[in-house]
Amino acid sequence: MTAPDSISLDDQAIDILRGNDRGGYTVPTAGLYPYQWNWDSAFAAWGFAQIDMPRAWQEVETLFAGQWADGMVPHILFHKPDPDYFPGPGVWGGVGPVASSGISQPPVAATFIWLMYEMNPDAGLAHARNLFPKILAWHQWFMDWRLDQGAVCITHPWEAGRDNTPDWDGAMAGIDPVGVGEYKRRDTSHVDPSMRPTKYDYDRYLWLVQMGNRLKWDQAALLKEIPFRVADPTMTFVLLRAQRDLSLLGQALGEDVSVIERHIETLETGAQSLWNSDLGCFDARDVQSGKWSNCVSNASFLNWYSGIDSPDMLAQYDRVTALCSYPVPSHDPSSDRFDPKRYWRGPTWGMMNALIGIGLAERGFADRAEALGTATADLIADHGFAEYFDPMTGEPAGGGTFTWTAAIWLAWASPNKETT
Ligand code: GLC
Repeated sequence: MTAPDSISLDDQAIDILRGNDRGGYTVPTAGLYPYQWNWDSAFAAWGFAQIDMPRAWQEVETLFAGQWADGMVPHILFHKPDPDYFPGPGVWGGVGPVASSGISQPPVAATFIWLMYEMNPDAGLAHARNLFPKILAWHQWFMDWRLDQGAVCITHPWEAGRDNTPDWDGAMAGIDPVGVGEYKRRDTSHVDPSMRPTKYDYDRYLWLVQMGNRLKWDQAALLKEIPFRVADPTMTFVLLRAQRDLSLLGQALGEDVSVIERHIETLETGAQSLWNSDLGCFDARDVQSGKWSNCVSNASFLNWYSGIDSPDMLAQYDRVTALCSYPVPSHDPSSDRFDPKRYWRGPTWGMMNALIGIGLAERGFADRAEALGTATADLIADHGFAEYFDPMTGEPAGGGTFTWTAAIWLAWASPNKETT
């Protein structure tokens, strides 16, 4: 059914995607994030797939053009220099074919590529054939370098895409950012500093980047040297889901998927290793100290998206969503670390809601999935296409005219969308 007042929102979302298009790739938002970000780009492709399939394929192909020789697909590709962003290519010293950062991001790409292929297999076939071995190599890179008890670890808070979540507080406290030097942040000139990470965080982010650059992003060296290694629910659930979808894509293409199937089993075990039984929730685990983060986050609720059921998680979901007007908050509102406007320490993110909603719908929780879709649509309709939102008031926060918020509107939240 078409809701007349939402037509203009569909148009606004399309304008945002087109407006953030830099020719072959989409920036998350002008000013604050002027480059191609990995998972933002995958969401952008999903959005474009609703209106312009060739452009959707181009988005992911541009992303994979930055793939490193070891298989890693970087979290930022610096296609064109922009002095208004820090830390830029010189600080990172990426070693791939396109100037880039030295870490990756949650690999949602395979899932959206599979969806795009399914939407139009004829138009997608050549693209899918070209991308399949590249995705395989990227996923293999995670399996080779990032596993702990089968769960996927991050070596930098930015790698999980949840920069300043309380999940990393313990591991961050173990870093003494000695010698990080003077630097000038740019993010706080675009956005109110109270909505961004603190200087304490930034010193540690940069110190880790400087160390990676010194080690030339050699994974064996990083494994030995980097004092930050956290097994992360975002990465683990997203990669598990991505491997399942890559297997489906491989089968459709007539490829041998036995290696992928073995990876799926490993990751299923890994996901269970993130179960914090005292908290009654999937949680992040600091590999070096062995300590839990004790965080109920929006990444905890990606279990259904990864294909894993849990009655305990359903109870957590109902408890947390009842605590705020606009779920799903990035951190439990009943925790003393909850901060409703500070980035990943409380705000609601539309794209995380889309992933959670897909999982709920698929695992048979249609009512909750629908309620989440409606709450997200209301949030965007009332408060715009913001980067993130205060879960209590809905107030928009961070950057505006945001690509992934527009993309999930078109692909998942819009009332004009027939299916979720
Ligand atoms: C922030 C987010 C990350 C995102 C990037 C660009 O760093 O935490 O998830 O990819 O901005 O939008």
